Amino acid sequence: MRTPLVAANWKMNGSREFAEQFFAALDLEGATAEVVICPSFPYLPQVGEKLKGMGVALGAQNLSQETSGAFTGEVSAGMLLDFGVRYAIVGHSERRSLYGESSELVAGKFLAAQSAGLVPILCVGETLQEREAERTLEVIGSQLQAVAEAGSGNIWGSAIIAYEPVWAIGTGKTATPEQAQQVHGFIRGYLGEAGAAVQILYGGSVKSGNAATLFAQPDIDGALVGGASLDAEEFARICRAAG
Ligand code: 13P
Repeated sequence: MRTPLVAANWKMNGSREFAEQFFAALDLEGATAEVVICPSFPYLPQVGEKLKGMGVALGAQNLSQETSGAFTGEVSAGMLLDFGVRYAIVGHSERRSLYGESSELVAGKFLAAQSAGLVPILCVGETLQEREAERTLEVIGSQLQAVAEAGSGNIWGSAIIAYEPVWAIGTGKTATPEQAQQVHGFIRGYLGEAGAAVQILYGGSVKSGNAATLFAQPDIDGALVGGASLDAEEFARICRAAG
């Protein structure tokens, strides 16, 4: 049985004050799902302090594929571990499309996270154009394959996958539970034997109003939440819907 997991991706939102208010309002009473909060880098220590004793884990939104050296502006997995980070999002579609991250680079980040002991949350997803051209599964397959080819051994054993259709991110359009389940089922099959235990999250306009029907699908194990994770009460409702 896979434990449901809900992760908040705050993206480039928030402030010191915002984090204070968010945790003052966050009440996860009744939620049994694993919960992860991914703030921007500067707020990791502040949020990490807030999370102590809450049973909620800290995640980063990105990391470098390198371990150290002359890489101005980059943050390594080791540095994240120093601040109590346990998860790192890699390959978010905003990083792929706005910052030109290739699937090969994303694979490097995935492996850098994993070899340091962080759990990578690997984002995959198709654009609207790719969906309309009926290329969804091919695109997702190739995003997964880039990681599989770069790694060796049981790489999926300590990883999380987030299916985030690009056309559903921040648009208010959610994949239907059936559309999402189709892709989640495909991903689980792709992962092979290890796949049975891997948490596969859905992301893209998840809200408390649509969370329960998504989570009812057999291969949807939780959510990666953007906009709705900035509202502590709404986020807590989504966590409760997951389990
Ligand atoms: P929204 O929930 O704002 O659509 O964002 C989803 C996302 O990109 C999470 O990583």
